[in-house]
Amino acid sequence: MSQSYETLLVERRERVAIVTINRPEKRNALNIQTRAEGAAALEELREDEGVRVVVFTGAGDKAFIAGADIAEFAERTAVTQRDVMTGRSLFTAIDTFPKPVIAMINGYCLGGGCELALACDLRIASERASFGQPEINLGIIPGGGGTQRLTHLVGEGKAMELILTGEIIDAQTAYSYGLVNTVVPAEELEAKTLEIANRIAEKSPVALRMAKEAVKTASRATLDEGLRREIDLFALCFSSADKDEGVQAFLEKRKPEFKGR
Ligand code: COA
Repeated sequence: MSQSYETLLVERRERVAIVTINRPEKRNALNIQTRAEGAAALEELREDEGVRVVVFTGAGDKAFIAGADIAEFAERTAVTQRDVMTGRSLFTAIDTFPKPVIAMINGYCLGGGCELALACDLRIASERASFGQPEINLGIIPGGGGTQRLTHLVGEGKAMELILTGEIIDAQTAYSYGLVNTVVPAEELEAKTLEIANRIAEKSPVALRMAKEAVKTASRATLDEGLRREIDLFALCFSSADKDEGVQAFLEKRKPEFKGR
């Protein structure tokens, strides 16, 4: 049973949990409450062994998330804004979440919305989705990892172009940049995302966790550090019952039943 949230819906579909940012009248803009509830929902889902994969999406058909709640910016000082960004960050919670997190992007994916998607492990977009870091138009810059994660994902040239111009790009262009993994017709978005999520949910939770951490290390460490970390995480998999099950199932020509142990 899920806790109830004012700005989110949390729904379980077998081994996949769908977290829907539910402020469609504000294009699902991320206010303080939404960020806090998102982080709280992740805490709940982290402990739930029945949940193997988490999907983030936005309510309605217009927006995934249209960015930080700009109305909250009006009263903020440098100090209060810094506190917001360095407190219990939803983006960091997604980035370091021990299970795969998928962004199911159904419309405007802008500013902090794009940064939330960038913190996820996979991004599946509807043909109607659009992407951008338009902060420059407000006289500010991305502050939720946009200048870093976007640059790692699409390279400095494309990241610089998006961040300096504030230009909004369509889903196909985002795909050509490597910003999203897959683009599908709007009516197929949920089915396609759940198909991918369910496929991942069948794998060993232990191996998924090690794989996520190892891949994330690549953009944070030197090659030598990353290769060493990979060996440690690879070796750690050998201490899991899931590894015994995976190898045994292969040898017995059957499907493995991973328990996350
Ligand atoms: N923060 C706060 N409120 C937002 C918002 C945001 N990021 N994005 C949209 N809203 C609100 C609007 O103020 C409006 O509220 P109102 O009905 O009380 O006036 C409501 O959501 C609908 O927005 P509207 O602009 O009428 O919808 P649209 O479908 O015509 O346009 C956008 C959608 C996303 C293109 C447009 O709202 C927009 O440009 N939003 C800001 C995007 C941005 O700069 N994000 C980065 C923030 S750092």
